[in-house]
Amino acid sequence: MAKRKSIVAKRNGIVPPPTKSELDILRELSRIQVFWGGNYFANNLPPARCWLVWDKLTGDNDYADCELAWTNIDMVVKKFTKSWVGANAKDTPTRLHPTQKPASLMQWCIGLAKSNGVIFDPYMGSGATLRAALDMGIPAIGCDVDKHYCEKAVERLAQNALFTLPNTACTGRLDSSATQSSFTAEGNPPAKARGAKRRQ
Ligand SMILES: C[S@@+](CC[C@H](N)C(=O)[O-])C[C@H]1O[C@@H](n2cnc3c(N)ncnc32)[C@H](O)[C@@H]1O
Repeated sequence: MAKRKSIVAKRNGIVPPPTKSELDILRELSRIQVFWGGNYFANNLPPARCWLVWDKLTGDNDYADCELAWTNIDMVVKKFTKSWVGANAKDTPTRLHPTQKPASLMQWCIGLAKSNGVIFDPYMGSGATLRAALDMGIPAIGCDVDKHYCEKAVERLAQNALFTLPNTACTGRLDSSATQSSFTAEGNPPAKARGAKRRQ
């Protein structure tokens, strides 16, 4: 019952920030990190030179003007401008998640990170990061504790894809017991594990 309540809370947009141990795991396992909403948990992160600023052009209302991402990229502060008016955004092409970000914002981040590795979004929500990576031809993996969003992200990744890459989304929970070797995921296994030729 408690679990159901917490998932409903997340669907309404109330998402607890990642814990320090979750952040420590992610920072240890990856070379480049971009944490949107980092201003809410900056106390669990080291000082950063390059914060990313997304100016949402929200206008004169109660919505936040900008969102901030903590990064470990060695660069000056950068700003991206794209209109995105609140949770009920009329200009959101496909609204699948209450805190969904534009895929173009994620493409911008990926470009700045200049990563040539695999992108991992452990809190993928609607799959915006994976969609962006797919459109850029970069392999990416995502998970979300909420199976509902995993299913939505899988559907989204299946749409209008020019290329079929081994990008995948699955249900999983990142927590303090997870390590590189023990992180497990439920739900759809990667296409390769299913032997799906179509995606190779
Ligand atoms: C802020 S939303 C991400 C929105 C996403 N960037 C988008 O554009 O749709 C955070 C997501 O993380 C998920 N989440 C929260 N804690 C998690 C955890 N420990 N492990 C995996 N997913 C988690 C929530 O279910 C939620 O969908």
